[in-house]
Amino acid sequence: MQLPPEIVQFIEDRAERIPSGELRQACAALSAHYRGRGSTAGLRLRPEAAAAAYLLMRFPATYAAAHAALAELKVRLGGVEPASSLDLGAGPGAASLAALAVFPQLTQCTLIERLETMREAARELLTGARFLAGDLNSWDNYPEQDLVIAAYALGELPERSRQAVLIRAWRAARVALVVIEPGSPAGFSVVRQAREWLLEAGAHLAAPCPAEGACPMPAGDWCHFAARLERTSLLRRMKAAMLSYEDEKFSYVAACRRDVPRAPARIVRRPEHAPGLVQLVLCDGACIRRELVTRRASLYKPARKSAWGDSWPPEYKPSGSLRT
Ligand SMILES: C[S@@+](CC[C@H](N)C(=O)[O-])C[C@H]1O[C@@H](n2cnc3c(N)ncnc32)[C@H](O)[C@@H]1O
Repeated sequence: MQLPPEIVQFIEDRAERIPSGELRQACAALSAHYRGRGSTAGLRLRPEAAAAAYLLMRFPATYAAAHAALAELKVRLGGVEPASSLDLGAGPGAASLAALAVFPQLTQCTLIERLETMREAARELLTGARFLAGDLNSWDNYPEQDLVIAAYALGELPERSRQAVLIRAWRAARVALVVIEPGSPAGFSVVRQAREWLLEAGAHLAAPCPAEGACPMPAGDWCHFAARLERTSLLRRMKAAMLSYEDEKFSYVAACRRDVPRAPARIVRRPEHAPGLVQLVLCDGACIRRELVTRRASLYKPARKSAWGDSWPPEYKPSGSLRT
């Protein structure tokens, strides 16, 4: 995944406005924060420096994760295209931009974000979008839209207010709601709890889950996926990173108003390849199990091409081409 060049340019322009020492410090503080836990509100940084560091260090990754989760939702929606979206705790708008890239018929984006510096950056990236300032906790109802997204936002809220925000988000979603969190044990526990609350509220699960029963992920393990993105040269310098790419680990759940065809099973680890053999770790909705696909199996070729996060067995698009 590559960020559109105009977004890369925007991020680099914003970074250039901050003295390099201050930017480096802000990036280091942000990295330390994301390796730990807690709200970004706890960071003591000049707001402009914090926003520039977020754009540089996190925006490409959250864009990639949102793009991957929304692309899977699109498959499940089977031709139903949202025309409007609501992005909760939108930051500089990565999830809304990913939604615009995935759903070409999306024309009305609404974003709720409490920090002015974040809204100001998002305003430049999303011309024509509607911005609502304020705290997610202060609304009785969010404006109804086809698609509602809470990307890396629910986990930032105090635990006591998460359920109320999630239920308001679900009430606002005419077609679907997507919750995305970091692909860590803590992020997954927020997603798993959201999944339970959504099922209690009568939602149908679209992805990644193959079924709507209790989540079979055992204690100590967590359901997560990876979105690979290219690092810009500035990002490599700020992270002192050698690799030209990074894998953003994320957990997510996509819920719909109507029931949709789900994946028969989901590949929940990177497939392991050995000569003549592919080992898949699958969630089939009832349990997490290993499947060995040998050279002689009819699904060997698709297994070799399969990737972490894909459905299994591969499904067929109406055109007849394989989707793995
Ligand atoms: C980790 S960032 C995620 C931003 C964006 N959704 C993304 O995926 O890149 C969380 C954002 O939620 C905002 N936020 C956190 N708590 C909020 C609240 N109670 N009301 C409104 N915004 C909030 C923060 O200001 C921050 O911009």
